[in-house]
Formats: sequence, C-alpha cells, structure tokens
Amino acid sequence: MKKLFFASFLLMAIWSCTKKATPAKSETAPSTNTATTNTETKTVVSADLIAEGKTTYESKCGRCHALHAPDEFSAEKWVPYVDAMAIKAKLTDTEKANVLAYVQANAKK
Ligand code: HEC
Repeated sequence: MKKLFFASFLLMAIWSCTKKATPAKSETAPSTNTATTNTETKTVVSADLIAEGKTTYESKCGRCHALHAPDEFSAEKWVPYVDAMAIKAKLTDTEKANVLAYVQANAKK
C-alpha cells in the first residue's frame, strides 16, 4: 500500500514536471526587417562594354584613316594596335578597354 502510494506520487511528480517542460507561450519571433535583400547586382555586362567600344571605335578611330574592320586582325594583333592608337585618338583607359573588347570580340579567328 505504501509502495503504491509512493509510486503514484512519483508518477504525479514526473507528470507535473513534463507538463511544466512544455513551453507555455510561443516564442516571440524577432522582427526580421533588418534582413535586407540586396537586389543591386553588380554584373559587368560585357556586351555593354563591347557596344560602347563599337561607338567609341566608330567615332574616334576613323578620323585619320578609314576604320579598320575588326576582323582584319586577330585578337592578339589588335593589342599593340589599340595600344598605339589609343594614344593617337586620346582615348581614356575605359574607352581603350572597350575598344579593345569590341575589336577582339569581332577579331579574325
Ligand atoms: C591621330 C590620327 C589617328 C587616330 C585618331 C587613329 N589612328 Fe590608327 N593610324 C594612324 C596612322 C598615322 C597610322 C599609320 C602609321 C602608324 O602605324 O603609326 C595608323 C595605323 C593604324 C593601324 C595599322 C594598320 C596596318 O595595316 O598596319 C590600325 C589597326 C589602326 N591605326 C587602328 C586605329 C584604332 C583602333 C584607332 C582608335 C583607337 C585609331 N587607329 C585611331 C593614325 C590614327
């Protein structure tokens, strides 16, 4: 009899413990509005550079001589030409890079 009482007391104790263990309230979710999604993608679209290079090429490289067709030279051959002509045409570093991108994209294979 005493044993049974003790056993039931133990059961009660365990039961009340497990009851307390269950969370009484749902956790308050921290506000997540600090997480900003960065939509600004910094992709350098090479097609844009090539298009810009074409514009620069056509406006600045045909002043002293007829425009050379990009496929007149191979991509490697264009490097020293653009290097030398960028000085003559007074191209900025960006313009020079774009012109090179343009002629190389259309260079002789
Ligand atoms: C200020 C005048 C001038 C401008 C602007 C100019 N060129 Fe020239 N270019 C020349 C002269 C002069 C030559 C020939 C003599 C020499 O090679 O320096 C030449 C030669 C070339 C040749 C060599 C052709 C061959 O068959 O050997 C290429 C290619 C060329 N230019 C491309 C360009 C490009 C690309 C640009 C624009 C970035 C440009 N040029 C702008 C004056 C100019």
